[in-house]
Amino acid sequence: MRNLLTNRWARFVIIQLITYLCLLVLLAAHLPSLLALGLALVVAYFLASRYYAEPWWRWIHLLFLPLIFIAQLLELPAYMYLLALAVSWFLFGMAARTRVPVFLSEQAVLQTLAQELALNSRFLDIGAGNGRVLAFLAKERPDLQLFGTEIAWPLWLFGKLTLPSRVKWWRRDYRQLDLSDYDYVYAYLSPAVMDDVWQQAQEQMQPGSCLLSNSFSTAYAEPSRTIPLNDWKDGSLLIWQL
Ligand SMILES: C[S@@+](CC[C@H](N)C(=O)[O-])C[C@H]1O[C@@H](n2cnc3c(N)ncnc32)[C@H](O)[C@@H]1O
Repeated sequence: MRNLLTNRWARFVIIQLITYLCLLVLLAAHLPSLLALGLALVVAYFLASRYYAEPWWRWIHLLFLPLIFIAQLLELPAYMYLLALAVSWFLFGMAARTRVPVFLSEQAVLQTLAQELALNSRFLDIGAGNGRVLAFLAKERPDLQLFGTEIAWPLWLFGKLTLPSRVKWWRRDYRQLDLSDYDYVYAYLSPAVMDDVWQQAQEQMQPGSCLLSNSFSTAYAEPSRTIPLNDWKDGSLLIWQL
């Protein structure tokens, strides 16, 4: 059981099965269905808090079962599920390979970056998503030289079509890039890859340049500075000066 729980997919299935079993037991005990569902979701939330460090899993487990019920009530045709799977795979399939999910930087970190970056500096977003950070900085900080790389096709294409031409925009794996050309390297990736990012930064970045991470740290070094973002995930901008 302990081994199974270290695999995040197995953990997801086990927590959902336990939630579903709780629901069945409570319904068999003749509790009103909404109350039974509510109690089963408390169990899901508790298990997600216990077995995941990242807060968003709690919400995923809390919403999963109600969404299944809503989908059933809507009596959607079967092909809609296949379509949803295909769209999800198209948008997020790369995450299974890179161990980095897709979510975008919040307004708080965009404002903080715009205030923190030194004049005329070179800023690279590794895993730049749809280019949201770069689009914001291009508008707010005309002095910066901006670069971004994104591995997922649909997001890269979105950035390609929407970013201003002064942003250099690549569809490349950041692990293939040389980080020595940049004053700031910004990462909003995942805890799973941060140790590798830190090692790459330490090997390649110039003294005085900064690795910035939205909320995810590394076991290798304490950040030189931490700026709280007061956002929904209680995140912070972590800054390592090389
Ligand atoms: C959490 S999103 C952050 C997007 C953007 N930086 C932002 O803050 O709004 C992380 C992005 O990194 C991309 N990614 C993951 N691994 C990558 C890699 N090895 N090279 C380039 N991009 C990668 C993912 O496809 C995803 O779009």
